[in-house]
Amino acid sequence: MKLTPRLQAIAELIPQGSVVADIGTDHAYLPIYLLLEQICQHAVASDINEAPLKQAQETIAAFNCHQRIDLRLGDGLDVLTGADDVDTVVIAGLGGRTIASLLDRGKNKLSQIKRVILQPMNEAGYLRLYLANNGFALVHEALVAEGKYLYEIILAKPGLEVERDPFRLSLGPRLLEKKPPLLPRLLKEKIRKLRTVYHSLQKAKKEDVTEKINEVEHQLHCLQEVLTSATKNTDTD
Ligand SMILES: C[S@@+](CC[C@H](N)C(=O)[O-])C[C@H]1O[C@@H](n2cnc3c(N)ncnc32)[C@H](O)[C@@H]1O
Repeated sequence: MKLTPRLQAIAELIPQGSVVADIGTDHAYLPIYLLLEQICQHAVASDINEAPLKQAQETIAAFNCHQRIDLRLGDGLDVLTGADDVDTVVIAGLGGRTIASLLDRGKNKLSQIKRVILQPMNEAGYLRLYLANNGFALVHEALVAEGKYLYEIILAKPGLEVERDPFRLSLGPRLLEKKPPLLPRLLKEKIRKLRTVYHSLQKAKKEDVTEKINEVEHQLHCLQEVLTSATKNTDTD
């Protein structure tokens, strides 16, 4: 089975012998791949909706993996029990706030885990701040381009995050340290989105938005500085 670059990048962060829970599995491609490649002997795959789970069940059967993937219907980490011995939780393809809320509501299920691998579709900064403020160290961060989209992947482990600056934390401290080739593209996307916010604030007439405009201007200035430094130190755009 060939995974998309995004799912492949996630799979590459999972050490051999891990017991994985793929929360919000949808098609279950990731756990199937992990089993076929013998990275995992066993996995839990869950989804909150019946339709994707039914589709996943058929795909799992087609790949003859049904005896080694536990498919479960349910919300977030609710589906896990201590007996699962899960050491790696993957949550990919959901919003950053939703992922943070699933981790928060499922805190009691995370006491034995070694790592969480998260791929937020948006608000990655919010998720990073949540992780750093809730006993996770941001061990590794990656950027993956797939089609016209750029995805952020976060590997976090229970521990103390050393970066304390909220701005750097929200951007991704490991990305800023390692400066991967896709970092300028990410920063440019963030600047473009923030400029849209800036322009709509300027047009807003009813409420006093001066303070907000000043804040956004400051953020744009900081982002531009990071972009200049990242562009100096990376080969490609
Ligand atoms: C966009 S798909 C991502 C699928 C896969 N994880 C991936 O990255 O390719 C999101 C899936 O998460 C499921 N989902 C949404 N909220 C959930 C929750 N609270 N608990 C479990 N699954 C959820 C949806 O039903 C959907 O199948």
